[in-house]
Amino acid sequence: MNSDAAMSGGAGRPGVGPDTLVLGIETSCDETAAALVLGGTDVVSSVVSSQIDLHAEFGGVVPEVASRAHLESLNPVVERALADAGVGPERVDAVACTVGPGLIGALIVGVSAAKALSLAWEVPFVGVNHLEAHLYSSFLDHGDIGFPLVVLLVSGGHTMLIEMRGHGDYRLLGRTIDDAAGEAFDKVARFLDLGYPGGPAIDAAAELGDPEHIAFPRAMMHDGLDMSFSGLKTAVTNHVRRHPDVGSADVAASFRAAVVDVLVAKTRRAAAEVDAVGIVLGGGVAANALLRTEMAAAGAADGRAVLLPSREMCTDNAAMIAAAGWHRLGVDGPSPLDIGAFPTMPLVSSTSEAHRG
Ligand code: KG4
Ligand code: ZN
Repeated sequence: MNSDAAMSGGAGRPGVGPDTLVLGIETSCDETAAALVLGGTDVVSSVVSSQIDLHAEFGGVVPEVASRAHLESLNPVVERALADAGVGPERVDAVACTVGPGLIGALIVGVSAAKALSLAWEVPFVGVNHLEAHLYSSFLDHGDIGFPLVVLLVSGGHTMLIEMRGHGDYRLLGRTIDDAAGEAFDKVARFLDLGYPGGPAIDAAAELGDPEHIAFPRAMMHDGLDMSFSGLKTAVTNHVRRHPDVGSADVAASFRAAVVDVLVAKTRRAAAEVDAVGIVLGGGVAANALLRTEMAAAGAADGRAVLLPSREMCTDNAAMIAAAGWHRLGVDGPSPLDIGAFPTMPLVSSTSEAHRG
């Protein structure tokens, strides 16, 4: 490790710098992932073993099935990450792992393995908040552009607008008051029989449809920074029941346009309110093709940088865990080995407390 090298962001502790190689482990939901990231930004290897096929027949993630699959896959996935990087365990400087939020049984598999590896390899263990890690997926590709940033975190479980005032310094600006955007994509896709997971299926179908075919509601559009997507989901089901002959592509395109309009308008307003230097997208829904182009266009129109993680770094992966772990290690140091796993774990306000167990 390089103790006095220049460090970006908050990684200010001696011994944490550009040469620090962190192994990230992610098992919070239905992806078993391991990655090696150098200096918080350089992805040396990233392996994701998806359980999508195991859960597809149930139309959603089955927690017990997920835990068992993590148990089977984790060791080979870690070995692959090391082999792909061409390094042995002796080169790893720290092990970072998602400690929450997520499915408790699934989390425990990763956390136990990460602690065991940190003990066996005699390197620090770092507990990472999965939501914070999604924010760091953008930094993997872009590095720092300064602060404040407005982050739109849109995944299957969360939809939030966050002001990032510095590394580890977050303020919640707005959130969904009901369904997460990804959840709405998944539910509408299931209703339209487009398959699981719904986001990519709707995204693909929407490319072939007319986004103006149905004028779905844009809830709370002019109403602060909170959002709501459950009424939209109901509007879709009502429309299809009343018009059984409507084409799925037109429904998908009109639905996608409604979600994206709201996400872009709210993010734009939040960025103006805090005079953000840039907008960062994170979470699985950030892989959405229309959201990416519309947000980039909005940023260009408003003169704000828009940081989009690569599409594979939007959905769950361990590179983002290693990146967030590198920053956490630099700011807070290692996590205690008696830290647990947290099914719920807010990003804002209690992240550091949770980290300290
Ligand atoms: O971040 P993620 O992998 O897992 C969570 O932490 O939730 O996000 C998964 C969510 C799912 O709801 C999935 O349908 C959605 O992200 N998603 C998408 C797209 N790709 C994944 N939603 C819209 N468009 C996409 N292309
Ligand atoms: Zn996620």
